[in-house]
Amino acid sequence: MAKLVINPNRELSKINKEIYGHFSEHLGRCIYEGLYVGEDSPIENVNGMRTDVVNALKEMKIPVLRWPGGCFADEYHWRDGIGPKENRKKIINTHWGGVVEDNSFGTHEFFELCRQLECETYINGNLGSGTVQEMSEWVEYMTFEGVSPMAELREQNGHESPWKVDYFGVGNENWGCGGNMNPDFYANEYRRYQTYVRDYKADQHISKVCCGANVDDYDWTREVLATCFKHSLPFQHGFMDGLSIHYYTHPEGWEVKGSATDFDEKVWYKTMSKTLYMEELINRHGAIMDEYDPDKKIGMIVDEWGTWFTCEPGTNPGFLYQQNTMRDALVAGINLNLFNKHSDRVKMANIAQMVNVLQAVILTEGEKMVKTPTYHVFNMYKYHQDATLVDSSIETRQIGLEEEYQVPNLTESVSVDADGVLHITLTNLSIEDSYEIDTTIVDRAVSEVTGEILTNEMHAMNTFEAPENVHTVPFTDVKITDKGLSFTIPACSVVHLTVR
Ligand code: AHR
Repeated sequence: MAKLVINPNRELSKINKEIYGHFSEHLGRCIYEGLYVGEDSPIENVNGMRTDVVNALKEMKIPVLRWPGGCFADEYHWRDGIGPKENRKKIINTHWGGVVEDNSFGTHEFFELCRQLECETYINGNLGSGTVQEMSEWVEYMTFEGVSPMAELREQNGHESPWKVDYFGVGNENWGCGGNMNPDFYANEYRRYQTYVRDYKADQHISKVCCGANVDDYDWTREVLATCFKHSLPFQHGFMDGLSIHYYTHPEGWEVKGSATDFDEKVWYKTMSKTLYMEELINRHGAIMDEYDPDKKIGMIVDEWGTWFTCEPGTNPGFLYQQNTMRDALVAGINLNLFNKHSDRVKMANIAQMVNVLQAVILTEGEKMVKTPTYHVFNMYKYHQDATLVDSSIETRQIGLEEEYQVPNLTESVSVDADGVLHITLTNLSIEDSYEIDTTIVDRAVSEVTGEILTNEMHAMNTFEAPENVHTVPFTDVKITDKGLSFTIPACSVVHLTVR
């Protein structure tokens, strides 16, 4: 019997809805085909955006979308993607598959997509190969209201009123594809570029995201912060609202990666173990951030996370298309529980990537669409968005087949929403064992509990032939006890309980 203790009296931090954010890059079939099919497509669309995909994402309550990259961002020149489509430049997408990018999805289309999704906007600017002027003018183009060259250009292109940019990334992976910079060089560039990411509306601050580390590159975090915090910069309002970090789960390492669908039990636990490593990264990068920002004003922005496997056989290796199984569902459940638990520092996270790329929540093929197991986890966890994390702990034991890759059997997080309703999300990492869970809820009598569960065999997935193979079902076998709740969590499952 595992004990789960929840103390709703101990409210810890707000779980920013942005933790449930997404990322869409001009990569493979994410933007084109996955989201944007064009106005003339036989696939049902509104202003070119696929209706089925938009509806699914709205149901999941997508809070924020990052665009246009990724590595693509530091080669993206925004002027290529505005104006009449027939005049837009055709370029080669050098990072991803060497295919022709016709720029038919650009700034106007991105804001139209976010309008339909009713989500916030996160634009990633080009610091690697773009100029300060180019970045500054993009911000002016998007957000300036009044008389200015960029506002006039926007109006000529059919959009008189400015849009709202909620987040702006000042470069992406500038230690790698974004210019191969050293941390102090990047930090000085950050200082310069961010100066011109101006708030043109006094009441609309654009939150600026500084490029943070790859995985465990703690030197990058330390040196970037040291350079950015030198002299007077920290005293300027909003000079840095977030510092990013990228970490992908590669069970077999970066070179080999491994199949998304064909894996054994050992690889299952390796995947879980490598996912849980996220917590060490948050703690250690967070400790460095604490030295410079003890009040936690700068958010840790995990703007790329998720599984990265070998692409599906027969697909373009540059398109990073992979299937999604119950293993991905567990990876999502574990990571989202971790982000919730660290929501004092983690202020946004964006799974890579939203449609047809890496750990996608949606896959499409022509007019067909499937919601992946990962989608269902986001849909179950959406109740945590903007709720308050409360204190909780669960008794666990170590499981796994190899000494090196032992993992706790269970993870959890608990929040209380604006109506005082408790939301408990749990993952059972074991492939074969279910566990009885005896839950104590401090100072609260339970009057009603409802639940939903995603569970299946570890390789189970949704395909275009069987799109409903993995889906949530009601989880009804939960007893209300004197102290709280009692239930058994099945093997290989993700559960959400709503407690009143
Ligand atoms: O998500 C795919 C790629 O992974 C992104 O373009 C890049 O930022 C990262 O290396």
